[in-house]
Amino acid sequence: MESDRNVAVFGAYGHTGRFVVAELRERGYVPLLLGRDQDKLLALAQAQPGLEARQASVDDPASLDRALNGAIAVINCAGPFAATVAPLVEAALRAGIPYVDVAAEIEANLDTFAHFAERARAAGTVVVPAMAFYGGLGDLLVTTAMGDWTAADEAHIAYGLSSWHPTAGTLASGVVSGRRRGGRRVRYTGGRLEYHDDALPILEWPFPAPLGPRSVIGEFTMADVVTVPSHLAVPEVRTYMTAEAAADLSAPGASAPAAVDERGRSAQTFLVDVLVRSGGTERRLAAAGQDIYAISAPLAVEAVDRIRTGRTRITGVASAGAVFDAPDFLRALSSHLSLHVPLDARG
Ligand SMILES: NC(=O)c1ccc[n+]([C@@H]2O[C@H](COP(=O)([O-])OP(=O)(O)OC[C@H]3O[C@@H](n4cnc5c(N)ncnc54)[C@H](OP(=O)(O)O)[C@@H]3O)[C@@H](O)[C@H]2O)c1
Repeated sequence: MESDRNVAVFGAYGHTGRFVVAELRERGYVPLLLGRDQDKLLALAQAQPGLEARQASVDDPASLDRALNGAIAVINCAGPFAATVAPLVEAALRAGIPYVDVAAEIEANLDTFAHFAERARAAGTVVVPAMAFYGGLGDLLVTTAMGDWTAADEAHIAYGLSSWHPTAGTLASGVVSGRRRGGRRVRYTGGRLEYHDDALPILEWPFPAPLGPRSVIGEFTMADVVTVPSHLAVPEVRTYMTAEAAADLSAPGASAPAAVDERGRSAQTFLVDVLVRSGGTERRLAAAGQDIYAISAPLAVEAVDRIRTGRTRITGVASAGAVFDAPDFLRALSSHLSLHVPLDARG
């Protein structure tokens, strides 16, 4: 099927991939269902009549080339991403199409910048890593909160999750990242990533109402420490996670998310509260919504839509805040996200 609306989704039958497929359809795109397991692909294609399934493996570049044939972009939802990013970006570059992923693996996100920045720029194409809840939304919020600032002393991103029932992919990605760090922890300070063995601080974060002050784990370091400093001069980028959600994630036998509505979203709610500080001035912005996996779909699909329609600022490997008009992007997601701008923090 040849169409200017074909978008390839690698890992289409995964939990996040399914949300992305549904979102693409809702927005008038034609998802091409890509993945390594033929049986899982066929089962998905049966549930999604009219869509084409194309088996492809990261070990077989020719299969990826066939799978991307006729696609205008590819969204990679197959994690752990340490194994999938490079083959998929290579295939996207060969096909001459943009690449977007939902990776929240700090080292894999860094590799994407390190390995592909020059080639993507030379090809005049866009590669957007971490175009999802972690890494993408935080970067859009920080960029919007910064406003006319191009530099700040600190950026803080506090994740107020009501709970966190992780998917198998999230847990597997955590294991891969942990192994790559030799079991160490990571934080972004003094303008660089620092690996350490210090205990994580527990503090109270003043989330806006209705959540209010909550106990959070500090230095619960997420992909925002790659995306934000990739384009903004902020030497201290810190991320925080509500203690309950962090405990859910590390609980033995943590259960997967359970659908509670017709979209397949879980009951999980989130409030992402961003604070940037420069000199004595603070600016704040928060966004609330439901289900961190589900919200990743409109984020990734909006990115593809903006790339397709030329609403991009740069080429090469670029994070959400660098490549898109961040406030306009957030406004476009108003049916999925509600934004809170505190009256006392407009800077
Ligand atoms: N940045 C964010 O906020 C954000 C949001 C959502 C998801 N994610 C990340 O996205 C990834 C997927 O999450 P999920 O919730 O969709 O998990 P999931 O339901 O477990 O799905 C994982 C998908 O990845 C595929 N996959 C894994 N390794 C692969 C490989 N080497 N080659 C081909 N396919 C491979 C799986 O295929 P098989 O079944 O064949 O193994 C499956 O389709 C995780 O890394 C997760 O952390 C990040």
